[in-house]
Amino acid sequence: MSGRALSDTTAARIVSDTLDAVIYADRTGTIRLWNAGAESIFGHSPEDALGESLDLIIPEKHRRAHWTGWERVMDSGETRYGADPLSVPGIRADGTRVSLEFSITMLKDDEGRIEGIAAVMRDVSKRWEETRDLRKRVRELEAQLSGS
Ligand code: HEM
Repeated sequence: MSGRALSDTTAARIVSDTLDAVIYADRTGTIRLWNAGAESIFGHSPEDALGESLDLIIPEKHRRAHWTGWERVMDSGETRYGADPLSVPGIRADGTRVSLEFSITMLKDDEGRIEGIAAVMRDVSKRWEETRDLRKRVRELEAQLSGS
């Protein structure tokens, strides 16, 4: 295989246009990158999201746990989040919920200090609802069987 590395501009266009949400937050948890996918999933324009805290998309009841984990990762440089995608609920501009799966990437400087964290997030609401409906149906059928 021979090939040339893509230019930084091409790589930036891929990130900017892709349908998954690509979000980057600096050490303080302030949003510094908000791509087209993030805009369509969450309904906030880049103008609205850039400079805001990640709280913009985190439902209130998860914020404390999120920031406790965040601080621990900033202090230690290590995350417990591995290769498996994480499932969380997010909140949209109109207040509705979205089921998300995401992975994170830590960006570190030459000394190993974390500069910020990037997240690639996918809207899995449709699959989440289908699974919930299927589970409900299985429970109903099991109840019918055990009752017969
Ligand atoms: C949008 C909805 C989100 C929710 C509901 C959420 C929720 C949470 C929760 C509950 C924890 C604690 C997990 C635990 O201690 O076991 C956590 C940790 C964490 N979250 Fe979030 N989060 C969200 C988005 C994000 C985003 C966008 C990023 C990165 C840009 C992020 C980065 C982290 C990090 C680095 C930790 C600590 C991981 C560790 O302990 O190794 N989160 N979050």
